[in-house]
Amino acid sequence: MMNSKILIAKAVEAMENSYSPYSGFKVGAALLTKSGKVFTGCNIENASYSPTNCAERTAFFKAVSDGEREFTAIAVVGGKDGEISSFCSPCGVCRQVMTEFCEKDFMIILFDGKTTKAYTLEKLLPESFSI
Ligand code: THU
Repeated sequence: MMNSKILIAKAVEAMENSYSPYSGFKVGAALLTKSGKVFTGCNIENASYSPTNCAERTAFFKAVSDGEREFTAIAVVGGKDGEISSFCSPCGVCRQVMTEFCEKDFMIILFDGKTTKAYTLEKLLPESFSI
């Protein structure tokens, strides 16, 4: 598997494009496909607030829209004004989107600027809903 440090570096780079004038909270994500490609994403806010798209979902929707359906891992970083000083754990909606396309062993890699934590999707969204 691609080095998690490389995936985190791509998430940090993606965070630079965050459009977050309302919260000032920048988030970046880098999604690794089983075939080895990386799709990045940032959060995209809106004056009407609720249309806001998280970085994780931006990455997933870019990838799925390009025909990718199989994923290995996602790295996520974020912080106020782009200062990465704590772990940015995916919201519930993003966890549900991950569940749509990923298996239980899909890895979610978080970085607080110093240390890395990794969880399986099963750990972050147990007993999830699917049809
Ligand atoms: N946000 C993400 O992009 N990903 C997360 O996992 C948590 C929250 C964004 C949404 C919003 O633009 C900002 O962070 C503050 O909630």
